[in-house]
Amino acid sequence: MHGLGDVRFFDRLAPLYDLAMPPADGEALAAGLAHGTRPIDRLLDVGGGSGRAAAALSGPDICVVDASREMLARARDRRGLSAAVGDAGRLPVRDASVDAITIVDAFHHLPDHDAAIDEAARVLAPGGVVVIREFDPTHPLGRGLAAAERAVGMASRFRAPSDLADRLADAGLDPRIVDRGFGYTVAGVKGKR
Ligand SMILES: C[S@@+](CC[C@H](N)C(=O)[O-])C[C@H]1O[C@@H](n2cnc3c(N)ncnc32)[C@H](O)[C@@H]1O
Repeated sequence: MHGLGDVRFFDRLAPLYDLAMPPADGEALAAGLAHGTRPIDRLLDVGGGSGRAAAALSGPDICVVDASREMLARARDRRGLSAAVGDAGRLPVRDASVDAITIVDAFHHLPDHDAAIDEAARVLAPGGVVVIREFDPTHPLGRGLAAAERAVGMASRFRAPSDLADRLADAGLDPRIVDRGFGYTVAGVKGKR
């Protein structure tokens, strides 16, 4: 049984979050999304919080899904984004109904990694792509970040790029490591049937 992980932490952090964070890397996200093989009209930003990553994307109709009501209030009220309260492990959308999913700086906070990836595979339409931006715990800065998040009481679990790519493959997605470094990007493409 999994709880909602670090969500209470983000409920408290929400008023300060956008003041503390730099803009998301829109170029890395666009490079990941380019691996999809269908037009991207509908995108879910899972663990999308205040909409920081969604704000770095242009084009698709975006819905931010997050388990923190306080983070989502920022996405909706400050950024005018469409937003839905939901758990990454039980997405509130139908099978094969979205063209792309982004999970930015959020995957390590999710309490059930397997459920989140299986849900992404379920809701993507054939040719759709999930793009995950994460931090590499084998990189020196990644080790420092993991230690810092533990020190403030977060339940973060970081995964190396190849480990995450392997899990995407287990869920039936075609994995691609888009870029590497302290921050890295992995994409998983759903095959066309
Ligand atoms: C570091 S923030 C990242 C927010 C946003 N993606 C960004 O790049 O600014 C992590 C987010 O993951 C969300 N989160 C944690 N557990 C979750 C879950 N089980 N389902 C959905 N969102 C979750 C938190 O509420 C928080 O908004």
